[in-house]
Amino acid sequence: MDFQLTEEQQMIQEAARDFAVNEIAPVAAELDASAEFPLDNIRKMGDLGLMGIEVPDSYGGAGLDTIGYVLAMIEVSAADASHGTIMSVNNSLFCNGILKHGSEDQKQRFVRAIASGEEIGAYALTEPQSGSDASTMKSRAVLSEDGSHYLINARKSWITSGPYARYLVLFASTKPEAGAKGITAFIIDTEEPGFSRGKTEPKLGIRASATCEIELADYRCPVAHRLGEEGEGFKIAMGVLDAGRIGIAAQAVGIAQAAYEASLSYARERKAFGAEIGTFQMIQQKLADMKTKLEAARLLTLHAAWAKQQAQKTGARFTVDGSMAKLFASEAAMWIAHQAVQLHGGMGYSKEMPVERYFRDAKITEIYEGTSEIQRMVIARSETGLR
Ligand code: CAA
Ligand code: FAD
Repeated sequence: MDFQLTEEQQMIQEAARDFAVNEIAPVAAELDASAEFPLDNIRKMGDLGLMGIEVPDSYGGAGLDTIGYVLAMIEVSAADASHGTIMSVNNSLFCNGILKHGSEDQKQRFVRAIASGEEIGAYALTEPQSGSDASTMKSRAVLSEDGSHYLINARKSWITSGPYARYLVLFASTKPEAGAKGITAFIIDTEEPGFSRGKTEPKLGIRASATCEIELADYRCPVAHRLGEEGEGFKIAMGVLDAGRIGIAAQAVGIAQAAYEASLSYARERKAFGAEIGTFQMIQQKLADMKTKLEAARLLTLHAAWAKQQAQKTGARFTVDGSMAKLFASEAAMWIAHQAVQLHGGMGYSKEMPVERYFRDAKITEIYEGTSEIQRMVIARSETGLR
């Protein structure tokens, strides 16, 4: 077992940290207040290779490994979780699936555009009536008689980056009677007729990321833009989420790290009863527990990243590793951010300090890319072999 990072991993970690500290952290509070999408920063992050960290150089990415991706996500999310969300969708949810299942043309056209930061990507699985129970989707795709295109009618909710995305990976049923086995994946160009966006959702946290409903009405998707084979869509969606959940775990670690570091500084400086509050045992207990949970979350997340890298060689699944990392790290982030607010007293509740933002941002990590209940279900099903 070797906990030493490689030179490349250290380089991407430092590049992400530099950008996060100098370009993201100074604007995070302002963007949170205005709910403005950080388009300029996303383009710059593309230039730095942060929008396609695991994408090979031949498709416009940085060509690094999953551990490098996790390290960069932690740094970016510690500065601002909204940037982390946008980065995660581009890297994990958009690029990963196409790299694994796409044709050479699809990789050259779609992955290159997103990995370079030139365009924004999105992933459309959830529908108004089906979130956790994703396979019960109502969106439909029908192959044309001449076999040249699919006619897609779909309504998808909560699509992260939806208001700005040029391309989406979208799931629709080509054979409704087959349930999960009838779902097919498509790559959608949002500039084609039949595509429309709903209003941007007002949210509790990650407010600078933008989420909206999208609708496809008789949208014509060329057969060449189908991702994988007909009926393979649900497995593609789940495989993409296996990897995506490691990214969300890393986002949670980033938020938790920022909340812990703010608390540590405050405990050293703030005085009450004539002493620094960090001298009180009840505050020390909080700090000790925060630090221990933070490092446990980090290790589980890095372990899941390592398991994904091993899986590339062995073909083994890393589903449970990703679910455990996301479950633990998201709940740790929520708990640590909660403690951070308490430790800051009144200032923890004030918009003058960033901890109230960490508290609001942490919550989403327990909900998207599968709620904590769904992660527990995935882990327990695998452990027991029961359903
Ligand atoms: N990899 C490959 N195949 C998988 C798989 C995986 N991880 N998980 C399931 N499958 C396969 C199963 O083997 C099965 O195929 P077979 O019948 O051939 O064996 C098929 O898929 C159906 O599986 P299940 O019967 O287990 O499916 P289910 O209906 O019980 O659902 C679930 C399983 C885990 C609950 C799944 O629906 C799920 O993950 N739900 C949560 C949805 C979710 O995470 N949404 C996130 C949206 S994206 C997002 O949120 C992005 C963002 O915020 C930024
Ligand atoms: P429901 O499935 O209705 O769940 C409601 C409650 O019931 C939850 O607590 C849930 O855990 C619980 N529950 C459900 N089933 C079970 C069960 N079997 N056992 C125990 N408890 C259960 N989706 C996308 O496709 N793309 C995106 O880019 C995207 N971005 C998002 C961004 C934001 C800000 C948000 C809020 C959501 C986003 N989502 C996205 C959707 C997200 O993945 C879903 O909200 C999530 O999977 C939960 O689905 P739901 O909201 O329908 O809740």
